[in-house]
Amino acid sequence: MLTLITTILATLIGGSLQQPGIIPGSFVPLGGNGGAAQTTYVKPAFCHDLDCPKYTVMETNDKFEKRHYAPSVWVATSMYTFNYTSAHSRQMFYKLFDYISGNNSAHQKIAMTAPVVTEIEHGPGPDCESNFTRHFFVPVALHANPPAPTDPSVFIKHVPEMTVYVRSYGGYDNEDTKRQNLEHLLADLDSMSRKYSDRVFFTAGYDGPYAFVRHNEEWLVAM
Ligand SMILES: *[C@@H]1O[C@H](CO)[C@@H](O)[C@H](O)[C@H]1NC(C)=O
Ligand SMILES: *[C@@H]1O[C@H](CO)[C@@H](O)[C@H](O)[C@H]1NC(C)=O
Ligand SMILES: *[C@@H]1O[C@H](CO)[C@@H](O)[C@H](O)[C@H]1NC(C)=O
Repeated sequence: MLTLITTILATLIGGSLQQPGIIPGSFVPLGGNGGAAQTTYVKPAFCHDLDCPKYTVMETNDKFEKRHYAPSVWVATSMYTFNYTSAHSRQMFYKLFDYISGNNSAHQKIAMTAPVVTEIEHGPGPDCESNFTRHFFVPVALHANPPAPTDPSVFIKHVPEMTVYVRSYGGYDNEDTKRQNLEHLLADLDSMSRKYSDRVFFTAGYDGPYAFVRHNEEWLVAM
């Protein structure tokens, strides 16, 4: 009963309620196996029951979390543009959605995962175009051999391990809330003299369009 209530509460408040002593996104020892060094990964509640990339929490405070992500495999599509709009965002989403719906070399339907990540790489100057890349996480079972995309503008991307600073927030996000949360994260990192790459940032969304309780994140790469 307590477990059920904990699960419901965790879902309602976007996963910030934790089992005592267990940080979501951490590896914890499995009990009762005679001391063998076996661990299990605790998936954060905001991943729901979907596959999502593994990370360990290196540091957490009331402003951000510092995470170390294991190497991961994604399906992605890019757009190089000055004016990024929700139409661009949708267009890229549906290219990836087509891929998981079976528009791939194996004609295979692939399970939805979390999060959907958009990487924004700034152009070299203030009035330059930026490179927007949207990503779906490839289910872990397919990492060794993901089906090739049939759409030439969709590609498989192997992302090496990386360390990111993460700011989490709820609600429906849009270009304004993303910008505001990114600005908060930048200010918090600056005030604590943390080093990060200012050439690129990531936004991550974990919920489908009709989810009422939502979890969103802004990431900056730690240096
Ligand atoms: C970007 O969009 C704004 C507003 O829609 C428009 O005024 C501007 O001309 C656009 N710039 C480019 C380079 O397309
Ligand atoms: C945009 O990013 C993608 C993915 O990293 C890369 O393949 C592509 O070459 C980039 N495009 C430009 C114009 O920088
Ligand atoms: C599959 O990809 C091809 C190549 O880009 C495209 O022409 C076609 O419309 C796509 N089919 C579906 C069902 O999305």
